Amino acid sequence: MEPSAGAMEDQPVPERRGAAWWRRDPLAYLSAEFDGTRDVWRSASGRLCVAGPEAAREVMGNRRGMFVETSDFFHTRSGVFGPRAAQVDIGRGARALMRRRLDAGRAGLPRLVRDRLVPVSDWPDAGNLLVREHLADVLLRPDAAAPLRQAVDGVVDRAVLAGARGRHSAVSRLLFRRRVMRVLAAEIRTRRAARADDPRDLLDVVVTGGGPSARPDDLAEVYLSFLFATVGSLGFALGWAVYLVGTHPGTERAQPEWIVREAMRLWPVAWLFTRKPSDAHDLGNVTVGPHDDVDVCSYLVHRHPLHWDRPDEFVPCRWAAPPPDPAFMPFGYGPHSCAGATVTMALLEDLVRVITHDWRLSVTAAGSGPQLGPALAPPRFTARLSDHIDAPGGR
Ligand code: HEM
Repeated sequence: MEPSAGAMEDQPVPERRGAAWWRRDPLAYLSAEFDGTRDVWRSASGRLCVAGPEAAREVMGNRRGMFVETSDFFHTRSGVFGPRAAQVDIGRGARALMRRRLDAGRAGLPRLVRDRLVPVSDWPDAGNLLVREHLADVLLRPDAAAPLRQAVDGVVDRAVLAGARGRHSAVSRLLFRRRVMRVLAAEIRTRRAARADDPRDLLDVVVTGGGPSARPDDLAEVYLSFLFATVGSLGFALGWAVYLVGTHPGTERAQPEWIVREAMRLWPVAWLFTRKPSDAHDLGNVTVGPHDDVDVCSYLVHRHPLHWDRPDEFVPCRWAAPPPDPAFMPFGYGPHSCAGATVTMALLEDLVRVITHDWRLSVTAAGSGPQLGPALAPPRFTARLSDHIDAPGGR
């Protein structure tokens, strides 16, 4: 397994086992424990780990109702935002809004890329900021008040960008979070009172779908989940695609769809899902119970040697003939799989098409491992776009 950044010196696994290592770098920990064959095992950290695609689908799909029904997206500090009907409404509303924006904005992507990425850009932030700019009106409608806009921009700078959390003290993060929650909750109350029918941004989607009895603080947290999914996850996924193409010459000629899929296979931004069993039962020959934390690791599923040929290599053309039952779940699996998956893929493919077809890309990277947080962000790298295809003397 390819190691994650920073924690893979040549020590044998048993000496490094333990909860502390798990907390410091769970990806390195899981990679070191995985022996390349097993699907489910009880880790030395005490947790249950799942790397086999069938077992992963059993947990995430939850057809037998053996796990507490939930998804990370709707988790709030007070529990799980609900009811389920509101979750589904919100997911649908967000997808529809995104789709409208992508259709209306597609023609502007070449210009956005030229203005923001040419000739040199610093990643992964460049990807996050590009997505934020393209989706600006989806995140907040143009007439949003300045304090609201500043609060949302502040969340991006202080919590969404890779490594941003480490740049502020715990106290400063706490105070900032309180301020943001106050601003968002006040706006949610105002919009709820105004009863707008047609959602114009994701905050409207959350207010309308959440219904009149939802707590403003919970709605604010759901809105923040959208901010992390769009500017964060989508931006990181773009970063991985650009990084991998730029460090694997020749792959820029592959179809954008294959590039995006292969990038998401190698480095799934959402790489770990934790679920709780509701009853004791067997999962891949291991007994699990309500006291267990079951970690489904899509990073390991996507590199399982029994399911992938050359699992650690970036091979976009493998997607020319996708496997019939792929060990692939970048957007989760089952009832809670990502409501934004299709629009996300569409935007990523559009952007990768512009970057690889219109420009010559070269990448200089500071390292090769991921920046590990709740999402798997690419390493810091610089991208150069040159020789526009239409320019005299260009390709
Ligand atoms: C690269 C970008 C993205 C990735 C990798 C991603 C990944 C995921 C994953 C893995 C889940 C399932 C979580 C779980 O089962 O615990 C999920 C759920 C969800 N995602 Fe995304 N997502 C992305 C972008 C988006 C966008 C742009 C939107 C909004 C339009 C979105 C909306 C949602 C919603 C609403 C859910 C909850 C679904 C449910 O519980 O019914 N996601 N996402």
